[in-house]
Amino acid sequence: MKIENNTVLITGGCSGIGKIMGRICLEKGARRLVIWDINEAAIDATVKEFCALGAVSGYRADISSPESVDAAWRATLADCGAVDILINCAGIITNNKRFADQTDADINRTIDINTKGAMFVTLRALKEMKARGRGHICNITSSAGMLALPKMALYASSKWAAIGWSESLTIELQREKSPVHVTTIAPYFINTGMFDGIRSFFKVQEPEKVAAKSIRAIERNKEYKGIPFPAHFIRLMQGLVPQRIFNFVFGDICKLYTVMDHFTGRKN
Ligand SMILES: NC(=O)c1ccc[n+]([C@@H]2O[C@H](COP(=O)([O-])OP(=O)(O)OC[C@H]3O[C@@H](n4cnc5c(N)ncnc54)[C@H](O)[C@@H]3O)[C@@H](O)[C@H]2O)c1
Repeated sequence: MKIENNTVLITGGCSGIGKIMGRICLEKGARRLVIWDINEAAIDATVKEFCALGAVSGYRADISSPESVDAAWRATLADCGAVDILINCAGIITNNKRFADQTDADINRTIDINTKGAMFVTLRALKEMKARGRGHICNITSSAGMLALPKMALYASSKWAAIGWSESLTIELQREKSPVHVTTIAPYFINTGMFDGIRSFFKVQEPEKVAAKSIRAIERNKEYKGIPFPAHFIRLMQGLVPQRIFNFVFGDICKLYTVMDHFTGRKN
């Protein structure tokens, strides 16, 4: 779906690739950009920063809470009208502890935000998009949702579930011949601060490029986009190569299995 003259809602739109995608949408002539985020100060700052580029509205929403999502959705519809494009981008990584050292709270928080959050928002948006007969939903997942790495079991599982949900939804809508489309984006590490400290054999990607590619994928109605392109081959390799060879190549040679050892995450 084209961006021009459409209203775009982005969750997690105050930081990282969500914020850049918002800016790109305004530059491409979106009718209105609606930012949802949990960080109120960042919402105010982002709205102020972007208001010269076009119409921008911001709402505080904790996407892990259906009540908070309901309130923000009602306020968005009342103030901004229908949402044409929803980009589910909000996400977190809690720590780089081994699974055995996680807490119940860590498990709940990760799954509630990274997996259930996008579902809660989409449930509201989808009903309205189907009724209007148009809409596009873009889900930002992760290559960690296909390639399991040590010390990110919670994040990997939350994104694995997000990919499964997003792809099921895509197929459901296609089989219904729905005019509502879904794009699943699965990027490799991006230099936004979220994964500060990691040491990666493969190039950590620039946020500007990932955001631009994600927006292009929406404009082209792509079902699935791995970023960078070789991420598309992860599943193929897993299917073809025996696990111990896969572990040797990616764990021992490419050192992917120690990538999280020096993770610090964003400090604030
Ligand atoms: N950075 C990476 O290396 C990377 C790689 C692959 C996928 N991703 C995914 O891309 C998305 C964006 O990542 P980023 O690096 O730009 O992140 P970021 O940390 O820069 O931005 C995330 C935003 O989400 C908001 N947020 C957090 N919890 C929220 C909640 N409960 N409700 C509403 N908003 C909430 C934060 O306030 C923040 O503004 C995430 O879903 C992330 O998992 C990131």
